Amino acid sequence: MSEVKVYPVDPEFAAKAHIDNARYQAMYEQSIKDPDAFWGEHGKRLDWFTPYTRVKHTSFDPHNVDIRWFEDGTLNAAYNCLDRHLETRGDQVAIIWEGDDPSEDEKITYRDLHERVCRLSNALKAQGVEKGDVVTLYMPMIPEAAVAMLACARIGAVHSVVFGGFSPEALANRIEGAESKLVITSDYSLRGGKVVPLKANVDKALTDPAAARFCEKVVVVERHPVKRTGDELAWHDHRDLWYHDITEQASVECPAEELNAEDPLFILYTSGSTGKPKGLKHTTGGYLVYASMTHEYVFDYQEGDIYWCTADVGWVTGHSYIVYGPLANGATTLMFEGVPSYPDNSRFGRVIEKHRVNQFYTAPTAIRALMQKGEDVLGDSDLSSLRLLGSVGEPINPEAWEWYHRVVGQGRCPIVDTWWQTETGGIMIVPLPGATDTKPGSATRPFFGVQPALVDNEGNELEGAVDGNLVIKDSWPGQSRSIWGDHERFVQTYFSTFKGCYTTGDGARRDEDGFYWITGRVDDVLNVSGHRMGTAEIESALVAHPAVAEAAVVGYPHNLKGQGIYVYVTLQAGFEQSDELMKELRNWVRSEIGPIASPDLIQFAPGMPKTRSGKIMRRILRKIAEDDFGSLGDTSTLADPSVVDDLIEKRLNRT
Ligand code: PRX
Repeated sequence: MSEVKVYPVDPEFAAKAHIDNARYQAMYEQSIKDPDAFWGEHGKRLDWFTPYTRVKHTSFDPHNVDIRWFEDGTLNAAYNCLDRHLETRGDQVAIIWEGDDPSEDEKITYRDLHERVCRLSNALKAQGVEKGDVVTLYMPMIPEAAVAMLACARIGAVHSVVFGGFSPEALANRIEGAESKLVITSDYSLRGGKVVPLKANVDKALTDPAAARFCEKVVVVERHPVKRTGDELAWHDHRDLWYHDITEQASVECPAEELNAEDPLFILYTSGSTGKPKGLKHTTGGYLVYASMTHEYVFDYQEGDIYWCTADVGWVTGHSYIVYGPLANGATTLMFEGVPSYPDNSRFGRVIEKHRVNQFYTAPTAIRALMQKGEDVLGDSDLSSLRLLGSVGEPINPEAWEWYHRVVGQGRCPIVDTWWQTETGGIMIVPLPGATDTKPGSATRPFFGVQPALVDNEGNELEGAVDGNLVIKDSWPGQSRSIWGDHERFVQTYFSTFKGCYTTGDGARRDEDGFYWITGRVDDVLNVSGHRMGTAEIESALVAHPAVAEAAVVGYPHNLKGQGIYVYVTLQAGFEQSDELMKELRNWVRSEIGPIASPDLIQFAPGMPKTRSGKIMRRILRKIAEDDFGSLGDTSTLADPSVVDDLIEKRLNRT
């Protein structure tokens, strides 16, 4: 490969860091050789009501996938994130909230947060929410989102957070799939000055009888500055409740429920290569141990640091690295409601300066968007508080890495490129900042307890510097335990392709130093601006439109988004292709799934390249979308090879 620049660990950073290279090596080795002893020790970072005596009880055998950690211990996640800090850091700020409007912010201490969580916990109990019930959160990035997650955790309810950018249809599917009894939302959300009617979306979702069958109550947070616009909300007295009405009078005392380590903490829906999004189940003990430990070591979080992760709580990054990891560690975590470009492109810099942020964790897509605006995009913001930068969600191209390092990190902050997934619960492959030299574009080495391997398509393990399918050979505590209501699908998706291993769905290369370079998904999952999406989902939304006979969706390289969505559509007889129809289809997908699924390019295709047995050959469609049709491979097995020429001639991405 072409010359790779290496950024060695700064010895000064290493000297103060939790983990230097020698410590990394020793701890990693122990974590693999004796996981029971290693995790038995590190599990003690949490407060347990009943200490565990058993640590690891896991099997990846496809006939018996069974994953349990700390299985006889009992604890409570909210207790670990709040109560245990009250004595030592009750007055310390837990959450710094920065509003969409730069003049709005709020600092919430641990004591304050504890009180709010207890009030809501009691209010939810009064509404009949019990241990094991699923509560859906469809919320903006406001403190109440974190309060609601922790209130569920406190009473043993299972939260299912649905990203506020998803459509009412997508929300309805997730309410139904989780059989969720109660939804917490807000009247509106505010992002980049734009108002989104979240409560109205919930109302729409609940016109779907399948979702309405389960959902009895909707709790609505008043996002007050917006309310003053005077918009009228539709209100259903039998079902809707104001958050402030039910919490104001509620007691601030609420004992934390004693839960088993393997009791579910949350469900989080994510896209796969086939079928509907799946609700991954995460449990309490192992998840929290893993989220808190990775948060401390990966970001080298030190007492008093101000830590900022720009993700949304609707994604797993928001769960593990805005809420659970940092709060379990007694950290100060910043929660940002807005977007990097509002009121102007210097916003990230302004927030870092205003709150003296020490660790900053964002996605390559945001970095690339800023990079396009030039070196002075952050204006004259004072970035001197920064000590470390993080990246997550998609491969970071070396140019963006270099820019991030130079312009945001001012050449002095290590970058941690964190590879992980909704399924993994926490960071899996990452350079620990005091231990691992970095190479722009590489996620480098495994975290403690993580055993990555590369296998060929037949499942043979590959040695040395090679490319292959990335699998993980043994369990780690943060791992998802199942798909909600469908364990068989969990086994099929993750444990049946390469026997005895967890299949990540990603491809990777290992270099001569043993560093991993994630090359992207090897299945039909797209990663658009760090948002994960199944091609099957977008296709099924498209074919639900009356004009569409057949649709095939593939990804293609996109400068800003990483991957763009390229759609091939065959129309039903009687429909004509037109710009209006194209626009309509785009809007259709937006309203079926959400704006993040909006197709970038739509090509009308009179025919799809199919095998004689009728299977669409996606490989060919991918190549055409990538404008790389010189290497189409063998097309002679197609039922009608001539369709390919037409597709090439009308291709839309001419690089
Ligand atoms: O393809 C990988 C990519 O994002 C996928 C997981 O997406 P999701 O479950 O939504 O979680 C995103 C946040 C953890 C992975 O299968 N991905 C995530 N982080 C990286 C990455 N690809 C390359 N480098 C990363 N650092």
